[in-house]
Amino acid sequence: MAKWISHPEDNRETRLVPVFRRGFKVKKGLVSAALRLSAHGIYEAEINGVSVTENRFLPGLTSYYFRIQVQEYDVTALLQEGDNELRVTVGDGWWRWNNNFGYTLALWSELRLLYADGSEEAIATDESFEVTTGAVRRTDLQKGEVYDARIAPSDWQKAALCTEHTGGKLIENESVPVREKERFFGKPFHDSAGNLVIDFGQNIAGYVHMTLRGTTRGQTVHLKYGEGLDKDGKFSTANCDGGRTEFQEITYICKGADVEEYTPHFAVFGFRYALVEGIEDADFEAIAVYSDMEEVGDFKCSNPLINKLVENARWSQKGNFLDVPVDCPTRERNAWTGDAMIYCRTAAYFMDVQQFFKKWLVDQTIEQYASGKVGITFPSTSSVHNPEELKAVQAVNPAMALAGPSGEGNIGEDSVGWGDSAVWIPYQMYLMYGDVEFIKEHYDTAKKWVEFSLRCMKEQNPLYADKPWYKNGDGDYIYDTRFHYGEWNEPLPPAPEVIELFAKGGTAADFVAHMAKYGKPEVATAYTKRSCDNLAEMAKILGKTEDAEHYAALSAKIKAAYDKYLIGGDGEIQKGHQAAYIRALALDMVSEEKKPLVIAQLKRELEAADYRLNTGFLSTVYLLPTLCDNGLANEAFRILEQTEAPGWLHPIALGATTMLENWNGMDVFRDSFNHYSFGAVCQFLFEYVAGIRPTVGFKEFELRPIIGGSLSWAEGSYRGIKSRWEKTDSGVIYTCTVPQGTTARLSLPNGEKRILTGGEYTFEL
Ligand code: BGC
Repeated sequence: MAKWISHPEDNRETRLVPVFRRGFKVKKGLVSAALRLSAHGIYEAEINGVSVTENRFLPGLTSYYFRIQVQEYDVTALLQEGDNELRVTVGDGWWRWNNNFGYTLALWSELRLLYADGSEEAIATDESFEVTTGAVRRTDLQKGEVYDARIAPSDWQKAALCTEHTGGKLIENESVPVREKERFFGKPFHDSAGNLVIDFGQNIAGYVHMTLRGTTRGQTVHLKYGEGLDKDGKFSTANCDGGRTEFQEITYICKGADVEEYTPHFAVFGFRYALVEGIEDADFEAIAVYSDMEEVGDFKCSNPLINKLVENARWSQKGNFLDVPVDCPTRERNAWTGDAMIYCRTAAYFMDVQQFFKKWLVDQTIEQYASGKVGITFPSTSSVHNPEELKAVQAVNPAMALAGPSGEGNIGEDSVGWGDSAVWIPYQMYLMYGDVEFIKEHYDTAKKWVEFSLRCMKEQNPLYADKPWYKNGDGDYIYDTRFHYGEWNEPLPPAPEVIELFAKGGTAADFVAHMAKYGKPEVATAYTKRSCDNLAEMAKILGKTEDAEHYAALSAKIKAAYDKYLIGGDGEIQKGHQAAYIRALALDMVSEEKKPLVIAQLKRELEAADYRLNTGFLSTVYLLPTLCDNGLANEAFRILEQTEAPGWLHPIALGATTMLENWNGMDVFRDSFNHYSFGAVCQFLFEYVAGIRPTVGFKEFELRPIIGGSLSWAEGSYRGIKSRWEKTDSGVIYTCTVPQGTTARLSLPNGEKRILTGGEYTFEL
């Protein structure tokens, strides 16, 4: 049986990048050879100098303390009779990035040889392997790599057995392969400070392959990767490095040759530009690297800026879906639940994400705390491995301290809109793919999260003691306690009390404590109601009638309380914030009596903002659909086509090639330029403008296009479904394709309704 092995001198300080090797003999009559590999870190394996796989970043990211993947390769063709050698290099990967999981890299491998006479041999990692270091001197997913091409591995020594966190269960691979995909040749130019900078024309996640000519031995070439040029036209990473000094860099020490080529091995960066030092005569090619999923959908229309928006969203998906869905490929690189929840349905229109989310959600379920809380990011990368470290973290930041792998999570993990991913994503995946396994697998997790939120809802917040919901005995149905991120990143000035807090010298920790003290009744109540609704639907699907009735009844009570206490008699919810009105309408929080008032308030808000949006993370995805659903389609198209900030098309006019984290990000050169969440507007383009919507999976679906704005035509496609409208002199021509074996329920803007089976159709309106 294979054992985990390490370099005996690899530890927190030395941070070695080990190269393991094992020589072995193959007898006559080999029928097949299977190599199984896993690592604490990420591995690159070769047999007799030939790479075993082209897939990247293996064994992938899972909750390593609980489960760690093994990949299996048929290596029969790489072996020869007689002497052979297996060589594996292990880089830091997610394991040692920020010391997330541990400090020492390790390898686990098993090679099984099967001979024609029926005999078998196994070569498994143990102390018979040798280890040393090679040309990769240092590597870190985010800081980058130091590569000394002069060094060939030598001074081999015996590998040591690894003892650090080896309890994770080895599981078969569930990851979609991560591969090198599109390539972009770079154009060199000099920035305003005279630096040699390469522009690849597209913001991506990946790395640069470089071809260097006429190098001398020991010459050092340095690359720094960034997303943009600052306001003065100078290369800078200030928008996305989060203040890190070591960030997205490659140092390559040449061996000296006519031509040398190099591609980073264990690092991946978010970038469009690379600043180059130490070489003039060279070619640079950027390679996009991401989970290789089939592209299944597209949207186009007569407005080129909207088409670019669709491209940018697709690129932000590619840039952030590397085995897990991260917020950005630069600063944080964490698999934030809220972001994925907002975007998962859009993601499914672009690519086949079924397996991608299936694998990722398992880690959420595995890591759920006993209380029902789920991580704000998972697999949880706590960097806390023992009680001493925990104390140290808490000493620096008591509010945000992580409680470590066996604890009860940090205060951010109470947050609605993030934790609700435990309910929303499995349910949405079910709706998109008709795959009931998503619900079966995660129903208990979803229920535990909802129960956690309902318990928190019952807690009393002394700050609101004189509020009518307490006085009337309805306190159990308004969620006014705990920390919640809330709408997050609204393009509006902070609340006066927050301005005051910072003016008095308050720190980020004080801000978090302040948020926890005040709660976010409007947001938390609404999301908990939405999760009750989703859970009731999920229960129905599983035949859990009692649960279905129970959560539907709770939802009705929460809605009634919200309507009564959080919506004013004049329909006002939160002046100045479109998000509050959108949320209330989208999540069905408003009684029929108050609905016209709320819609009127929303209309006023849009007018006051001159048809610029002011929603943040949570509500932007709902903004345009909710306007259309409530008789404000003209307003929806006006906001969609708005080219001034804040709006989707503003960054495009400034040259953005991905979605930004901040609506004003490019004006002020701040925050990540590759945050996919606002790209969820593409769900609206597919489902409303092209009108393609699932029933349960797409065996049955709806076609319900909306014709609007300045658009003269629009078309959407998804897995063989096509929906297209075009204005003509006399009206509109609508065409659609319904794949064989499926049924579409068509509703056209002129009121015509039809049931369509496989075929192509044309309607004149
Ligand atoms: C991340 C987001 C995340 C948020 C939580 C940010 O720093 O980049 O994408 O959802 O924090 O509020």
